[in-house]
Amino acid sequence: MDVGIIGGTGPAGRGLGLRLAAAGMSVGIGSRDPARAASVVGEIAAAWPDRIEGELAGVGNAEAAGGALVVLATPWEGAARTASELADPLEGKVLVSMANALVREGREMLALVHPRGSVAAALQAALPRTKVAAAFHHLPAREMQDLDSGLIADVLVCADDPEATAETMSLVERIEGLRPLDAGSLGQAAAVEAFTAVCITLNIRYRAHSTLKLAGI
Ligand SMILES: NC(=O)c1ccc[n+]([C@@H]2O[C@H](COP(=O)([O-])OP(=O)(O)OC[C@H]3O[C@@H](n4cnc5c(N)ncnc54)[C@H](OP(=O)(O)O)[C@@H]3O)[C@@H](O)[C@H]2O)c1
Repeated sequence: MDVGIIGGTGPAGRGLGLRLAAAGMSVGIGSRDPARAASVVGEIAAAWPDRIEGELAGVGNAEAAGGALVVLATPWEGAARTASELADPLEGKVLVSMANALVREGREMLALVHPRGSVAAALQAALPRTKVAAAFHHLPAREMQDLDSGLIADVLVCADDPEATAETMSLVERIEGLRPLDAGSLGQAAAVEAFTAVCITLNIRYRAHSTLKLAGI
């Protein structure tokens, strides 16, 4: 398995898994309940029968954590605990966090102040033997789940370990329309995660499905 997605049954994990499998990768959509993961994979395969060039499998989260590279796509509340339970299979690997700590208030999305600064930093603290990266925060799941949406976006990548940055940027590059940008150390994840609240608020107010694209680089 090239990529395992812990908590992959939600919109974010489904979209990422579909895009990576469409790009020819072998992907495990992970869940606390492997039967739910299998059902989700069945739905994705039925929706895109001729577009999956690689492999897509529904697996338990522990099996997903056995992927060569692992993405965490759970809500932020469950992220550190879920990852801690998988510390052994995640040892020595790159774990990419796409989780954002957000709360909706009316027509606005607000960023919560995480006690560790960011979800990604909390994961790194919980998993000292894993190389944590942060990426994919600003991608709208709806567009990711539609292979014909014409998605074009920059993906900000943060990590303390150079290998984690390089592997995550290579992963982003596999997806058509996405450009990875090295946004610095894991300390930047706090700003990257929080900015997601601004992106979603803009989409609420303008009834849009915008993506992040930086000019001048
Ligand atoms: N939605 C987006 O557009 C988007 C875009 C970029 C980043 N993100 C971030 O990506 C993450 C996932 O987003 P999402 O919309 O896919 O979320 P979601 O649907 O709420 O959750 C994803 C999956 O996580 C598992 N899960 C739920 N609560 C859990 C808990 N307490 N502990 C462990 N696993 C739990 C569930 O899978 P099982 O029940 O099958 O285990 C669920 O299907 C979030 O942190 C979000 O901020 C979302």
